[in-house]
Amino acid sequence: MKATIKSHKDTIVSQIDDRIYGSFVEHLGRAVYEGIYEPGHPTANELGFRQDVIDAVNELNVPLVRYPGGNFVSGYNWEDGIGPREERPKRLDLAWKSVETNEVGLHEFMDWANQAGTEVNMAVNLGTRGVDAARNLVEYSNHPGGTYWSDLRKQNGAEEPFNIKTWCLGNEMDGPWQIGAKTAEEYGRLATETAKAMKWVDDSIELVLCGSSGSKMPTFGEWEYTVLDHAYDHVDFISLHLYWENPENDLPNYLAKSVEMDRFIKDVASIADAVKAKKGSDKTINLSFDEWNVWYHSKDADAKREPWDIAPPLLEDIYNFEDALLVGCGLITLLNNSDRVKIACLAQLVNVIAPIMTVKDGKVWKQPTFYPFMQASNFGRGKVLDVRLDSPTYDTAEFKAVPYLESTVVLNEESNELVIFAVNRSETDSLSIDAAIEGFDSLTVIEATELAGYDIKLTTQEDNDAMEIKVNDGIKAKGDKVTGEFKPLSWNMIRLSY
Ligand code: AHR
Repeated sequence: MKATIKSHKDTIVSQIDDRIYGSFVEHLGRAVYEGIYEPGHPTANELGFRQDVIDAVNELNVPLVRYPGGNFVSGYNWEDGIGPREERPKRLDLAWKSVETNEVGLHEFMDWANQAGTEVNMAVNLGTRGVDAARNLVEYSNHPGGTYWSDLRKQNGAEEPFNIKTWCLGNEMDGPWQIGAKTAEEYGRLATETAKAMKWVDDSIELVLCGSSGSKMPTFGEWEYTVLDHAYDHVDFISLHLYWENPENDLPNYLAKSVEMDRFIKDVASIADAVKAKKGSDKTINLSFDEWNVWYHSKDADAKREPWDIAPPLLEDIYNFEDALLVGCGLITLLNNSDRVKIACLAQLVNVIAPIMTVKDGKVWKQPTFYPFMQASNFGRGKVLDVRLDSPTYDTAEFKAVPYLESTVVLNEESNELVIFAVNRSETDSLSIDAAIEGFDSLTVIEATELAGYDIKLTTQEDNDAMEIKVNDGIKAKGDKVTGEFKPLSWNMIRLSY
């Protein structure tokens, strides 16, 4: 089969906000304890953080990590996680039916983020708490000193403010499973008042309002409109969450599911713009896709677990090659919508529906989904070019006219690189590619790689080397043209200098 990619140097979708390569660490399962934090592990540093995990996070080049939840945050008292560790309370975490020891809290997580070279996207509890706890947390974290909360931070060892810039106003407040779930009216009012107080403490922060927990929620659309109608002037982003599943084991349909993501983004952007028009506002609300991933492999095992363990192995999806291909399609979709999606968080980072897994006292290993994320995050920086794709299509149970080729083109003017990311969804056919990126005289291939040729159900748990990025030496460049083949079921990256 043949497909074409056409683009032009000057037709730019958007500058990419690096935060599109964000991720997420929740106090859930073994994400924190036995994940990022395992004192006594052979690679643990003086603060108890696993260096092998930090190394893997660095390979992913993650600029932003959402914390501490997720559902967990809706029952969390942030004050439980500060001060002397031996005085911190153990609490029931009702979200995940676990026991939270609070051994890791705000200071420890900020230390970890610092060591991992990433910023924190901090969520406040709008489930069981509200304006007061949120504004105190901003004061504790960002105020230089001379007040009760900022001086307490200093007393607890952090002389300098943490200066946390990005904040989430609660989590999935529309979901009946959420502790303290709310109607859109209730949440819209609470988020507005909380946002005002938080920004009065520090007007440099950016705030993410909760959108729906998914596009299939019965209140989707109406929720976005109502909460934005309340909070529009006080927030900067609205959130989107999406988890993919393949319980019916229908590969063509599964790989098409990134189409839902594209539709979801465009729908939420339209609703935000409708509120903008109604208000006659000059301000545009952008999107924070702050939870997205595949999540279904672990659900049966999790349903059978007894409650109230400390750091039980929950949501430990073992991913396979088909999941990596869909994550690749998701990354391309986010990039192609980078004019509106400024933040995205792969949910999550370590052990919990994660690209990085750890064995207690043992190795760190990389899931198949690690590889597309690593390549996009490291090389997909700069500006996204508008692409016109011409690809054969197919129909599935849920989707019509799905292109076999999914692709995006990124221009990095700092490194003088043009990078093409692409997935071939076909199970049987290679795609013979003709790409023309006008405006460049002499493109040269720096490297062309592929993740291809694996059984779609291949996992990497038993053998961390079972999957690797390989060289695709059939990719050629001449003038502004690039040609070659994308193998059936493949994730591809072509880096070109110009
Ligand atoms: O990422 C796992 C959970 O998924 C989060 O805690 C919640 O926000 C979502 O439902």
